[in-house]
Amino acid sequence: MTAEKILELFPAMKDIQDEELRRLSIRAMIDAMAQGGWDENNVHLAPVTVTYDGVTCNLIEHVNLVTDICMTIYEKVSGYYAANGRPLDRDTVLCGALLHDIGKFTEYALVDGKICHGQYADIMRHPLSGAVIAGRAGLPERIIHLIATHSFEGDKSYLTAEADFVRTIDQFAFKCSVYGLPKK
Ligand SMILES: [Fe+2]
Repeated sequence: MTAEKILELFPAMKDIQDEELRRLSIRAMIDAMAQGGWDENNVHLAPVTVTYDGVTCNLIEHVNLVTDICMTIYEKVSGYYAANGRPLDRDTVLCGALLHDIGKFTEYALVDGKICHGQYADIMRHPLSGAVIAGRAGLPERIIHLIATHSFEGDKSYLTAEADFVRTIDQFAFKCSVYGLPKK
């Protein structure tokens, strides 16, 4: 997977203003896909979940939807956050939205043409594996924190304003694109 392909799959990555944060985000995405065995030919098959029926998007589309909603709402509400003394850092929201599910590239795998759980999925859910990948790529703690806490792993955790913001919208976007019930 090349940096150019990552930017093609996730166009909002170009909008990360901090050059180093953008470079490390691309590196983390490439690393996650490589670790999970995803390449340019099969990455569109990476799923957002395997535990629900009626899923209407793949992982890339889900991440782009979360990012799109995050940045649209950010423009509307960032002033309120600032007024409340918890200003939202735009690059952290954007980078966090783009990377929150990188662990899913290792949580799920394509084996003999079938989607299944990845090698360590039973002990490393995607918030944990994603946080490890982000740390390995050299991303800052505020991004690692956001990834680690974005799902129910963060229910009893301290949350930065950006982590709380992205996880709320992620849950909403998940409901929009996963219309169904857990598989029995
Ligand atoms: Fe997500």
